[in-house]
Amino acid sequence: MKTLVVLGSTGSVGRQTLEVVEAFPERFRVLGLSAASNWKLLAEQALRFRPRVVVIQQEDLYPRLREALPREIEVRAGDRALRELAAHPEADLVVSAIVGLAGLPPTLEALSAGKTVALANKEALVTGGELILRILREKRARILPVDSEHSALFQLLKGHRRREVRRLLLTASGGPFRKRPAESFARITPEEALKHPRWRMGAKITVDSATLMNKGLEVIEAHYLFGIPYSRIEVLIHPESIVHSLVEFRDGSLLAQLALPDMRLPIAYALSYPERLPLPYPRLDLTRSGPLTFEIPDLEKFPCLALAYEAGKSGGFWPVALNAANEVAVEAFLSRRLGFHLIPSLIRETLSRLSFSGKPGNLEEILAADRRARELAYDLVERLCLR
Ligand SMILES: NC(=O)c1ccc[n+]([C@@H]2O[C@H](COP(=O)([O-])OP(=O)(O)OC[C@H]3O[C@@H](n4cnc5c(N)ncnc54)[C@H](OP(=O)(O)O)[C@@H]3O)[C@@H](O)[C@H]2O)c1
Repeated sequence: MKTLVVLGSTGSVGRQTLEVVEAFPERFRVLGLSAASNWKLLAEQALRFRPRVVVIQQEDLYPRLREALPREIEVRAGDRALRELAAHPEADLVVSAIVGLAGLPPTLEALSAGKTVALANKEALVTGGELILRILREKRARILPVDSEHSALFQLLKGHRRREVRRLLLTASGGPFRKRPAESFARITPEEALKHPRWRMGAKITVDSATLMNKGLEVIEAHYLFGIPYSRIEVLIHPESIVHSLVEFRDGSLLAQLALPDMRLPIAYALSYPERLPLPYPRLDLTRSGPLTFEIPDLEKFPCLALAYEAGKSGGFWPVALNAANEVAVEAFLSRRLGFHLIPSLIRETLSRLSFSGKPGNLEEILAADRRARELAYDLVERLCLR
């Protein structure tokens, strides 16, 4: 029986984590759940899974959540409560499924407490990669990837030495605008960007998938998770989303992991690792899947991927600034203040106006760099009226 804390339980990954838990009640027990503002769903989940603690990040919603739940469930609110939940002494595994930089502080807290973290929150590794590597070296903590591509790579690399690896090949669906002419990108609406052809995910990652920034963040995530230089991490567009990633070894062998696009698989693998569970979900039938196709990404049409490589290679605070500018750009696009075609311009412009020296030594330094980049990006959205 594993005891779980699910941070971001009301989100897409959080809800699917609870589906896996529900399918294997003899394996998993829920100790804690958290959300930012969706107190109604959080209360429903708490009544169903009976955790010991629930945390709502927005403090003003505490009274409503408290009233909705019986006394034996402890209700807490705010950032500090979230960090304490992440490091709960009784948690065996912490599922980090908050979206954006907000997931970094509780993820760091869990790792610093020596926890095993099932990591969906890629922004934590993108912004805190160096710091996280240091904590992993110092504590008996570990990260199990939840992102489907990184789960694939993790499975493929098992039992192999790093020096035998020639390349990591991260697959990407290409998003909804792969075939749309770039000239029409200015007319893309949030509704169109939120219709992903293969995966049903939260709004932020869905927009990131449409710009290919998601793949860029994943390249940085893969670099930190697997210790492979950027020059040996490549992206392949694979619209069918059946091959979740590949590893090329030095002898020329290419290993791939295949499955239907269903996040419950990589989530379940991280929850039950090193065991594989007999999952009751639909399975891939290769005789019915149709042809599997692969293309090189078009970096001119989707410059966010190139921006992410650049920031990743520069290291230090650059991935923090990239992530901050991207979060601002996506939010501005979703609230119709920024055209889709201007998302990469806003990020590039923000980065060009910043300068950094050194590497992030602690969380405060990361948060300070994030604030600087965010303020600049907000300012650019407002001042330049980039529409
Ligand atoms: N969805 C996928 O299939 C998928 C696949 C691979 C990786 N990921 C990664 O997993 C993470 C979560 O993605 P998602 O699609 O599940 O996102 P989502 O559906 O938007 O859910 C985000 C979760 O985080 C909570 N949250 C948001 N802001 C917060 C804050 N400031 N403090 C505390 N909690 C906060 C939300 O609470 P409320 O509901 O109250 O807002 C919700 O529970 C992202 O980093 C994403 O890149 C997702």
